[in-house]
Amino acid sequence: MTVLDAPPAAPVATTASPPRPTAAYNDRIVVQFSLATVLWGIVGMSVGALIAAQLYWPDLTYGIPWLSYGRLRPLHTNAVIFAFGGSALMGTSLHVVQRTCGVRLMSDRLASFVFWGWQLVIVSAAVTLPMGLTQGKEYAELEWPIDLLIAVVWVAYGVLFFGTIAKRKTPHIYVANWFYGSFIIAVGLLHIVNNIAIPAGAFKSYSVYSGTVDAMVQWWYGHNAVGFFLTAGFLGMMYYFVPKQAQRPIYSYRLSIVHFWALIAVYMWAGPHHLQYTALPDWAQSLGMVFSLILLAPSWGGAINGVLTLSGVWHKLRTDPILKFLVVSLSFYMMATFEGPMMSIKTVNSLSHYTDWTIGHVHAGALGWVAMITIGSIYSMLPRLVGVEAMHSTKAIDTHFWLHTVGVVFYIVAMWIAGVTQGLMWRATNADGTLTYSFVEALNATYPYYLIRLGGGLLVLAGMLLMAWNVLKTLGAGRMPLPAARMAHA
Ligand code: HEM
Ligand code: HEM
Repeated sequence: MTVLDAPPAAPVATTASPPRPTAAYNDRIVVQFSLATVLWGIVGMSVGALIAAQLYWPDLTYGIPWLSYGRLRPLHTNAVIFAFGGSALMGTSLHVVQRTCGVRLMSDRLASFVFWGWQLVIVSAAVTLPMGLTQGKEYAELEWPIDLLIAVVWVAYGVLFFGTIAKRKTPHIYVANWFYGSFIIAVGLLHIVNNIAIPAGAFKSYSVYSGTVDAMVQWWYGHNAVGFFLTAGFLGMMYYFVPKQAQRPIYSYRLSIVHFWALIAVYMWAGPHHLQYTALPDWAQSLGMVFSLILLAPSWGGAINGVLTLSGVWHKLRTDPILKFLVVSLSFYMMATFEGPMMSIKTVNSLSHYTDWTIGHVHAGALGWVAMITIGSIYSMLPRLVGVEAMHSTKAIDTHFWLHTVGVVFYIVAMWIAGVTQGLMWRATNADGTLTYSFVEALNATYPYYLIRLGGGLLVLAGMLLMAWNVLKTLGAGRMPLPAARMAHA
């Protein structure tokens, strides 16, 4: 039976909350990754709040070099994308692949290697970035020794994931695994190609690409990091956890397959929209724009597939805050994937580029979509992993939901207003052709919105701290799954 023939089914789920020391699945690794997700989420978002504060109070860190904005900003992006997002993706993918394939992970040792290897990458980044060691490529700042470590850990992760799929007991491969699998393959490819460099010392290297080619390769990487790291992997999460939490089969299994192939086919071509009005050939810029516009269709098709999964059970939103996290994440995903194609239109981009509008767009995707689907998924799976019925406090999840949602709205609305204001002020000219406003006047106009963004960020951070408390309480009530070696005696 091919995947297309497969009946629209809910993920091959296991029992709801069996407290069991069983060798059926390696749950320990999933719990470890979940804890890492919460920890790095708090660290990364704290640094985010700090740099947001620095934009309002530029002298906040007294000129200490390793606390300077230029060094902390990449620390923030690396921590939230690769440490928080990466741990969430690895943890949930290893959970989903076991449950939907009906087998234990291919190797527990390899799983431990992937977990500790990835944590080593994160710690190396947290040390070297504040020291100012960087390749200067956005989202690919880490120097070559760490890049090599990433490549090794990533290949190990790929072997673990696909090796588990290879020994599956189910006839077909559930669609969530297709998305996770594409994320693993694409990110490995992007990382290796974009980081090919000639070392010139232990912590210095030069990219083999130069000039416009370097820019093109970098934004082919940068955009597809969004497409495959921040999107495809999290869609894998959506396809498992939305049906699971709603207790409904996915709305249309057939649509999910169309969604998968359409997204894969289109994303890779849209990167040039990051380089509008640059030295990149004009046809390449237009190509990026056209593919970005096309991307709206598969993005919304997929999101609608997730949302409609709730058909008939919408009432559950009244009582289940986890479902609220999952569904609202999809609304933010739709918002970001409508806004993105609009921003790729050259005339719109001439206004939005270099302004805080882009930052608003980024966080609609990052805080609204990525963080909310992650938080919802962890709340959904953690109790089952540690053998308890539910999270310690449902009320705290609900409070977290509101703190997060209100925080994100403050953040993105502030950045939209700031961004459009900046764009309009920068381009305004007098009758004689001189600029109407100086740069400082535009900056002054932006100031109040930076404070509002900081407020929004602090609300989000407060929600994460509440989550940490709830997670620890839940772990205390349940039990950490045993390592494989001790299971036989359990
Ligand atoms: C408490 C939550 C957060 C706060 C306060 C925050 C704050 C910030 C600030 C102040 C910047 C720099 C903006 C600028 O240079 O003008 C930034 C950039 C960025 N943040 Fe966050 N952030 C938060 C959460 C996140 C999360 C969860 C993610 C990803 C999952 C994320 C991804 C990014 C990215 C990708 C950029 C770079 C954007 C660009 O270069 O266009 N942030 N953030
Ligand atoms: C159909 C989907 C999307 C399209 C066509 C799209 C398009 C764009 C465009 C045109 C820009 C501005 C480039 C510039 O002027 O510099 C941008 C920036 C960005 N977008 Fe999107 N976007 C999409 C979805 C998303 C999602 C879902 C996320 C996050 C989860 C995201 C994250 C980002 C980031 C991080 C940047 C800033 C990159 C940088 O300059 O550092 N995008 N996107």
